[in-house]
Formats: sequence, structure tokens, C-alpha cells
Amino acid sequence: MFIAANWKMNLNKKSIKSFVEHLKIYKFSKNVQLCIFPPTIYIDFLSKLIKNIPISIGGQNCHHQSFGAFTGEISAISLKEFGCDYVILGHSERRIYNKETNEYIKKCAQFGIKSSLRPIICVGENLDQRENGKAIDFIEKQITDCLPEDFNELTIAYEPIWSIGTGKIPLQSEIREMHKNIKDIVFSKSKKNVKVLYGGSVNEQNIQEILSINNVDGVLVGGASLKIKDFLAIYGSAVKHLKNYNI
Ligand code: PGA
Repeated sequence: MFIAANWKMNLNKKSIKSFVEHLKIYKFSKNVQLCIFPPTIYIDFLSKLIKNIPISIGGQNCHHQSFGAFTGEISAISLKEFGCDYVILGHSERRIYNKETNEYIKKCAQFGIKSSLRPIICVGENLDQRENGKAIDFIEKQITDCLPEDFNELTIAYEPIWSIGTGKIPLQSEIREMHKNIKDIVFSKSKKNVKVLYGGSVNEQNIQEILSINNVDGVLVGGASLKIKDFLAIYGSAVKHLKNYNI
């Protein structure tokens, strides 16, 4: 079970420090892995603060070249050097605001893997595609075009755009169908298994329901990961869920 906390462009030194103070006294279970994705500038700061806490760190994006004239970009090699294990790629906000394409995301994933990072590739349909029955085909194309040529370990985050930050989540049957489909598509193309996380308005109230859906291997949490109380409530629910199912 994996919980990814995507802080996006939020928090600062003071709030991060206070967040970590609460983590220091928390008893973590080894069955639920946690990874925080802070704004790039705070990666080193956070990494030092949590060095004795079993939480990984990741970048919110990376470039597909090791170094060079790419103003404002972040290299996978630098993420690795500063203690990152994971990198989120192709988040819908980057696809929309930074015009990242599937082809670009694939190149970044390949370079991330080469730099020993574990990519979490985000996919997700918009409301129009969902309402017109095009979600499955759209996601299939995103996966096909973003899938790295070679990988050992890969995670896909299914994040319907219409669910991000809106408080709306798909029906259980829709999440089940999409996650199964994603696993089948990746397997048919690579003969490898992937983990699939659900992302979009995950909170303390719906986490149990989401985790009980087949083929949900964890969650990618945005807004609810910014407040320590909500974050720990989500984590605690995931631990409880595993205990209930004796996993
Ligand atoms: P949200 O964001 O949990 O605030 O909906 C999720 C995401 O964008 O990764």
C-alpha cells in the first residue's frame, strides 16, 4: 500500500517544520509506504528534517536531459542527489499549464528510470471524455504513448481531471474498471505488472471506500496531504484497512 502526498506549490519552511514535528512522534506501520512530494526548493530542507522517519521523498517533475540550457527545469540526477526516490510525471496540471505531451512524459520517465528514480506517471480524463464514454480509450492512449521502453518498477496514478480538488470522485465501479484496464494495457505491452494509485479528492472520509476497490494499490493525495491532521487520518485509515483485511 502506497500513499503519495503531492504538496504541489504549497507550504513553506515554517509549516513544513511544524508538519514534521507531528510526524516525529507518530508510530508508522511498515505495511503502508509514504512518500512526500514537496515543492522542489524544499526537497533538501524536508529530506534533512525527516531523515529518521520512514518516509520517502520525491520530485513533482523532472526533465529528460541530465543537464544543459533548460532554464527553470529540474534534472532527475539532481533529484536523486538530494535524496529523492520517486518522481511524479505528467500530472494533469503540468499537462495543462506546461503543455507536457505524452511523448515528452515518456522521455522524462525513461531518463528518470536511468537515473534510478521510480516514476509515477499520471493519467486521467476530463469531464467531457467521462460523460461521453471516451475515458477508457483516452487513458489507453495516454498509457500507450507514455509507457517507457523498459522498466522494472512503474506506478501509474489514475487521476480524473474532474475529480482533482473538486470533492467529486468516480463511482467505485468506474475506479475498479479503470484500474483493471490500466493494468491489462501495461501488461499487454510490456509483460510487466504495475501498481495503480487513485488520485482526486482523496480525504479522510472516502479513503476506506477507495482502498477497498480491487486493483487500487494506494492513493495520490493533494489538498488533504497539506494538513497534518488530515494526512495522519488518511494514513491511519490505510493501516486500519490493511489490518481489517489481514494484509
Ligand atoms: P486533490 O489533488 O487530492 O487535491 O484532489 C490530487 C492531485 O492532484 O494529485
